[in-house]
Amino acid sequence: MTPIVQMRQLIKLLQQHNHAYYALDTPLISDAEYDDLFHRLKSLESDYPDLIQHDSPTRRVGGEVLAQFDSVVHDVPMLSLGNIFNESELQDFDRRVRERLPGQEIRYELELKLDGLAVSLRYEEGVLVQAVTRGDGESGENITQNARTIRNLPLLLEGRSDQTDAANSESSTEATKKFSEVPELLEVRGEVLMPRSGFERLNREAEARGEKTFVNPRNAAAGSLRQLDPQLTAARPLAFYAYAVAQSRPQPTIQSQYESLEWLGRLGFELAEQRTVVDSVEAIQQHYLAIQAIRATLPYDIDGMVIKINSLRQQQQLGFMSREPRWAVAYKFPAQAALTQLEGVDWQVGRTGTLTPVARLVPVFVGGVTVSNVTLHNIGEIRRLDIRLGDTVSVFRAGDVIPKIEKVWPEFRPANAASLSLPTVCPVCQSPVVMPEGEAMARCSGGLFCPAQRIEAIRHFVARKALDIEGLGDKWVEALQGLGLLNTVADIFHLAEHRDQLIGLEKLGEKSVQNLLAAIENSKSTTLTRLIFGLGIRGVGETTARLLAEHFQTLEAVQAATLDQLVKVPEVGQITAEWIYDFFQAPHNIEVLEKLKAAGVHWPLPAARAHQPLTGESWVLTGTLAQFSREQAGMMLQSLGARVSGSVSAKTKAVVAGEKAGSKLDKAQSLGIRILSEAEFIDLMESHGVVIADFLDGFSE
Ligand code: IVH
Repeated sequence: MTPIVQMRQLIKLLQQHNHAYYALDTPLISDAEYDDLFHRLKSLESDYPDLIQHDSPTRRVGGEVLAQFDSVVHDVPMLSLGNIFNESELQDFDRRVRERLPGQEIRYELELKLDGLAVSLRYEEGVLVQAVTRGDGESGENITQNARTIRNLPLLLEGRSDQTDAANSESSTEATKKFSEVPELLEVRGEVLMPRSGFERLNREAEARGEKTFVNPRNAAAGSLRQLDPQLTAARPLAFYAYAVAQSRPQPTIQSQYESLEWLGRLGFELAEQRTVVDSVEAIQQHYLAIQAIRATLPYDIDGMVIKINSLRQQQQLGFMSREPRWAVAYKFPAQAALTQLEGVDWQVGRTGTLTPVARLVPVFVGGVTVSNVTLHNIGEIRRLDIRLGDTVSVFRAGDVIPKIEKVWPEFRPANAASLSLPTVCPVCQSPVVMPEGEAMARCSGGLFCPAQRIEAIRHFVARKALDIEGLGDKWVEALQGLGLLNTVADIFHLAEHRDQLIGLEKLGEKSVQNLLAAIENSKSTTLTRLIFGLGIRGVGETTARLLAEHFQTLEAVQAATLDQLVKVPEVGQITAEWIYDFFQAPHNIEVLEKLKAAGVHWPLPAARAHQPLTGESWVLTGTLAQFSREQAGMMLQSLGARVSGSVSAKTKAVVAGEKAGSKLDKAQSLGIRILSEAEFIDLMESHGVVIADFLDGFSE
């Protein structure tokens, strides 16, 4: 193979792997393999310096450290875009365009508005010769060395180099066609940005080193592009997306913006997705909403959509107004961050007594909705933000994301602004507030004495995944509580006795009372899982409720369970076990359970034990076991539904390690997988009712 063919092959491979790594974020080879390919290319290049290819990835690294960037005047000024924010401004834009082009058919090309930095690239004879930032639009900074390090930015336009053709097996007509597409001079405009995956990786690495992280991908891209040392830029995951041809000699025979992007694509530029051409305001609006809906799934940040008149002839006819084209406009998304003031903090009491601080804000329009309350999560968050009454804060809300306070501006803090502190008593029942050591949440100690906790407890009990009582909505619960008819969940089943009082309530009428009472009656026939879940025991979600029901089979057995027995239930740790134990010891709860049963709440006894609690889990056995063989242990696991596998992976649920366990044990440890000794394994089997002797008989080693 001639050196040049070898070089071309290596370049092609390195380009593919760069794309997989930077654009797709799915590396196909290890870093070491990549380095090996890279060094092979480098050594070929040092042997044959005359043959060095313009698009060699070795040319992307290196370059000298600059003292400063030179200023470059743009041949064609880099304009900015006017902004619109809503449908009526969109209609105005469309009307202005149509007024200037009477009787003409208008088509709009729609593109993503990428949130990075505008850069202009100049290619002479297909070779990248200059890259300049937007600057003030008239002149910018020469960042050519840095731009060269951007992996997906073509250093050489496709089809230009004779050397490329020599190495290509493509037919000469194809090569000629490609060749003819590459102009003598081409200036391309586009956006340099940092894809989100790369941004997150960069920040993770910075965090691990204890360094400062970047606020957002845009800032990270800007900081990376403006490094005087190109080696630093090279280490950052930047990408370039082309969106316009600023000038070309000779002019291509292209009629529209859409076609010019397709041409750029053929020349080797990466283009943003979601391009389309439409012909009405309605279709623009539809596309705008569709993009907004998928915004979070895109690999990079965008801040809106750019609307361009598709016909280049019409673009010329429309021309410019001051520094903005009349033929294009940015249709921005609603701002995702806005400033407002903190008026106060309310403490909300949850079902298990947790006190959650909720910030009351001067209402502010952000992310397309008006926000006036924002959760602050816990007292730790308040301290972290050092937020005080009257503070100016940044509120952030993206798409469907829950709004949050992102930043406090101490610069605007009023004099003597009061700090926020944890209340000492519950705002609802005045019971003392406690904050157990090591916990993030403060709690009202009032338990079911606290009306707020009672309401939450009842809400939880009637929820769909619990007793599923339709019709007993929040309003009813509050009203019935006000009448003293609903103090515990057991009272629900006595509401029928107060039928007349209910009919007078909230003007709901006889029909809905009838429906409600029927739903209550229906709910009496339930399952043990639903009942346990509905009790709202701390730490007991749906899954744990099911595991408890499966393990103990009856409510009485759960109530009688000791701590030791509780921790044997899968997913129940020491702390949850204590919560469960305490719940069933509390006289109030015992009484409520008795009342529920007395009122006729019932559930079927589980069918004969089909107890396969390890279903879906993958287990690995390693080392020598003293009391039975690995096969026998495997049979025990399988009888509980587990799969027994020969190798440890991230999917492994647990590893049973006997004497002289080796590499599998090491791997499990490094992956943080649960490891059981033989004794722990026996305990676990017994806790699930496995009779070990049954598995020893009849099995020979
Ligand atoms: S076209 C004369 N297309 O938006 C038209 N700009 O506010 C020039 N931008 O500085 C721009 N995505 O940084 C265009 N698809 C896109 C864009 C885009 C992002 C940025 C660009 C420009 C700014 C204008």
